[in-house]
Amino acid sequence: MSSPVADQPILVVQDVVKRFVLRRSAADWLRHRPGEIHTAVKGVSFEVARGEILGLAGGSGSGKTTLARMLIRLVEPDDGKILFRDTDVRAARGRGLREVRREIQMVFQDPYSSLNPRMRVGAAILEAGRVHHQPGAEDGDAFVTRMLDLVRLPASAATRRPQELSGGQRQRVAIARALAVGPSVLIADEAVSALDVSIQTQLLNLFLDLRDELGLSIIFVAHQLSVIAEVADRVAIMHEGAIKEIGSTADVFNDPQDDYTKTLIAAHPHPYPPAEGPSTVVSSSL
Ligand SMILES: Nc1ncnc2c1ncn2[C@@H]1O[C@H](COP(=O)(O)OP(=O)(O)OP(=O)(O)O)[C@@H](O)[C@H]1O
Ligand SMILES: [Mg+2]
Repeated sequence: MSSPVADQPILVVQDVVKRFVLRRSAADWLRHRPGEIHTAVKGVSFEVARGEILGLAGGSGSGKTTLARMLIRLVEPDDGKILFRDTDVRAARGRGLREVRREIQMVFQDPYSSLNPRMRVGAAILEAGRVHHQPGAEDGDAFVTRMLDLVRLPASAATRRPQELSGGQRQRVAIARALAVGPSVLIADEAVSALDVSIQTQLLNLFLDLRDELGLSIIFVAHQLSVIAEVADRVAIMHEGAIKEIGSTADVFNDPQDDYTKTLIAAHPHPYPPAEGPSTVVSSSL
């Protein structure tokens, strides 16, 4: 694969801001004071290349999820620019916005949030493909088998319901359903955080394979630096709504420049090279 960073970025984020107006307290009501404003994302800029895995790390409340949700306008940005290919995401309406939301798919920590418990796995995958008129979705079973195969699940998983699967299998189904609509960007928001370490490793390898096989770009949000170290080509470190440092994963983890990044890495000993040795990461990103 050619170096992903040399290509035209698929996603460009410039000076994006999100302010939340906090609920007014009783005292605010009585004194006619407006609600306090909390700026959750304070002018963040970054780019994602085609086929690149960008890690987004940072402590709880640093703004990672808010930033991720703004990319598909599940949260409306207050300022800044978001470009997906040539589409101005903030200006997108109707079909244009639906297309952005098809192209940029999110996978969450809790797969139950994206899977209907009453729906069998195969039906859920097929529905996603058909709604977005994906090639092959009319074939039914063959389409489902292909999507399950992409996430390394047997065709027999199609007849299961989400609650009949393990946590790791359920997350694979959530990924298959996301892939069924033909995205070019996946945002994994703490997608492996709730899983056992061995299952985590399997899923991280799956994300690496999907990047290689499908050329997906992936924004991998995690508070665990060790997880980021295993998958990300580059990493952005967020703190209090700002990106404190961004660079290649090896550079940032081996030689952090920013004081907050240094503190964060010191609190997570030896995040890099990853536990299985750097070759697993480096070879897959070349
Ligand atoms: N709808 C909302 N209304 C008000 N404040 C919000 C809202 N959503 C998020 N926030 C605040 O914005 C800040 C960033 O939250 P966010 O969920 O983006 O952080 P995070 O980095 O994803 O944290 P975590 O690692 O815990 O998931 C927090 O202070 C949070 O309380
Ligand atoms: Mg979050």
